Amino acid sequence: MAAAQKNVSKGPVAQALSSRWAKPAVFALGLLPLGWMVWLGLSGGLGAEPVAEAVRQSGLWALRLLLVALAVTPLRILTGLAGLARFRRMIGLFAFFYALLHVSVYVGVDQFFDWAAVWKDIVKRPYITVGMGAFVILTALAATSTNGMVRRLGGRRWKALHKAVFVAGAAGCVHYVMLVKGWQYPPFVYAAILLGLVALRYAKSPAAGRLSPSYRT
Ligand code: HEM
Repeated sequence: MAAAQKNVSKGPVAQALSSRWAKPAVFALGLLPLGWMVWLGLSGGLGAEPVAEAVRQSGLWALRLLLVALAVTPLRILTGLAGLARFRRMIGLFAFFYALLHVSVYVGVDQFFDWAAVWKDIVKRPYITVGMGAFVILTALAATSTNGMVRRLGGRRWKALHKAVFVAGAAGCVHYVMLVKGWQYPPFVYAAILLGLVALRYAKSPAAGRLSPSYRT
């Protein structure tokens, strides 16, 4: 009864966000890029170099979803939609999932698990070294994303560790900037969005200095 009354006082968007269908819906949305890639693969839509294109597509989705995960808190603060916070972890884990797919296609299908060749790439090609750095950070964040790990590490340490998501985002953008040939603007668009999200994090509100203490978590 009390819960029903609480829901009545919320707007339709807030109600939708707190409904029990919201998480399955976001989960289904997170799988759409995978479905799209499988469809492209089966229909010959990955072009003349399907493996390279699969590496590219999965890398792009990893970076996109990382930026979406980073945008959740600013959006929550700016819109007042507290219910958005429920989806941050899932979106972050989807970013990790696409990064894992990206690395797996590269290691397994592109390099045929030739670990010596992969290691040579990591050491000799700086853009791969940087991508590896981003991937190591994302793996650590995914491994510590459970409630149990929040308890084990303690809230403060967990938050400090999870700030590394910005470093992973920056490394993802640098990886992208370094690998494109010649002057191409798309990697700079991703980098600009990341910078905007970092700037928002430290944005001042006229009333309260920083936008909000909780904004900084
Ligand atoms: C061990 C880690 C990684 C390796 C070995 C790796 C390797 C690669 C390779 C070989 C390419 C294709 C380059 C080409 O087209 O010539 C690529 C592209 C890309 N990667 Fe990674 N990557 C790694 C991690 C990551 C991570 C963690 C992200 C995102 C957060 C990422 C995002 C991208 C993006 C956005 C592209 C460019 C897509 C495009 O050309 O449109 N990569 N990566």
